[in-house]
Amino acid sequence: MRTQVAIIGAGPAGLFLSLLLQRAGIECVVLEMHTREHVQTRVRAGVLEHGTVQLMHELGVGERLKRLGLEHGGIELRFAGHGHRIDFRELTGGKCVTIYAQHEVIKDLVAARLAANQPLLFEVSDVRLADLESKSPRVHFVREGKSGTLQCDFIAGCDGFHGVCRPAIPSSALQLFDRAYPFGWLGILAQAPPSSQELIYAHHERGFALLSMRSPEISRLYLQCQPEENIENWPDERIWDELQKRLAASGWNLTEGPIIQRGVTGMRSFVTEPMQFGRLFLAGDAAHIVPPTGAKGLNLAVADVRVLAHALAEFYRSGSAEPLHRYSETCLRRVWKVQRFSWWMTSLLHRFADDNAFDQRRQLAELDYVTSSRAAAQSLAENYVGLPME
Ligand code: FAD
Ligand code: DHB
Repeated sequence: MRTQVAIIGAGPAGLFLSLLLQRAGIECVVLEMHTREHVQTRVRAGVLEHGTVQLMHELGVGERLKRLGLEHGGIELRFAGHGHRIDFRELTGGKCVTIYAQHEVIKDLVAARLAANQPLLFEVSDVRLADLESKSPRVHFVREGKSGTLQCDFIAGCDGFHGVCRPAIPSSALQLFDRAYPFGWLGILAQAPPSSQELIYAHHERGFALLSMRSPEISRLYLQCQPEENIENWPDERIWDELQKRLAASGWNLTEGPIIQRGVTGMRSFVTEPMQFGRLFLAGDAAHIVPPTGAKGLNLAVADVRVLAHALAEFYRSGSAEPLHRYSETCLRRVWKVQRFSWWMTSLLHRFADDNAFDQRRQLAELDYVTSSRAAAQSLAENYVGLPME
């Protein structure tokens, strides 16, 4: 098999890239280790930046998003028992975010790729990369018990944090930047109408809590927990009890309901520099991880592949490899700004194991500042709705 670009991974990065390349008339093959069913039902993120939404419409995959997505013009920061709204539309010249589950995005992208009769292979195993520094790198893999080789011009490593692409780069060629957080998030989906029209990010002495949603019938809620928390220790009553305490505000009620999905997510900040080696380009979680507090993981993956698609289109159009050479440098400017924002939101809202009364007062002062200074609120808002693409 031969193609122009081999894409490893059918997550947001790989699938968006495949549609962007398809639009530019560039051939690609997507190789995914899991089944279609698995990738389309994995519960993950839910907040789409303004630019991600626009891109879905441009790519002709925005029909369900338009119908089912929930546009949010602000969020609430809740602390010391009171809520304070950050008005995105007013602070960013009319921009907003859209609540639409990541697995719904995946369904839309997979459907578009398959409807166009373009190669997207599921259940591919033993993916190995070879000849990355040559003009014709190769991807070896196994599918339906048979070995195959995909010869290509470029490889896009869109296989997430635990994938095989980043480890295929000699470690001497990479610099890694890492920060682990001493907590995780316990997330649930509940059959309960959301108790607020907009997301609530709550600072509480018992730890952070977040109220989000998926539809007018389904709430998505998160609680700060131990990093390796055993979900068995969290029966439904304990989850609701803790959410009630951390989200409490006078005159406001949290509606409970049956819990239909639950899981624990670790938190880390991680960046690989550079994000390329020879003809391999890393994008999305394969190159970087952000803690989820700023709702940026998926959106950052999309920003990377926009840069990559543009650089590949330039290469095939004019023969210039200049934008490809600058891929990493271009992406990293945004990556580090988003890292900073995600770290800042995380530090602002969580309890840290070693924090003391001073740290807690400082956090409350910062929350007071962010919700009372237009300049500070505007900084949060412009980052949350998504920094402009370069
Ligand atoms: P992924 O979505 O990880 O996609 C990578 C794909 O590559 C997967 O389909 C995988 O099966 C495939 N793959 C891996 N290895 C191979 C291989 N060897 N061969 C072939 N295919 C391979 N972000 C938020 O903002 N808010 C959240 O609440 C949130 N929750 C999350 C919960 C979990 C459990 C996880 C893991 C992530 C969460 N994120 C969240 C982050 C967000 O979902 C990611 O940033 C986003 O999915 C990144 O997209 P990606 O395409 O780069 O990687
Ligand atoms: C959701 C996830 C996030 O990480 C976040 O910051 C806000 C909302 C969500 O899953 O809805």
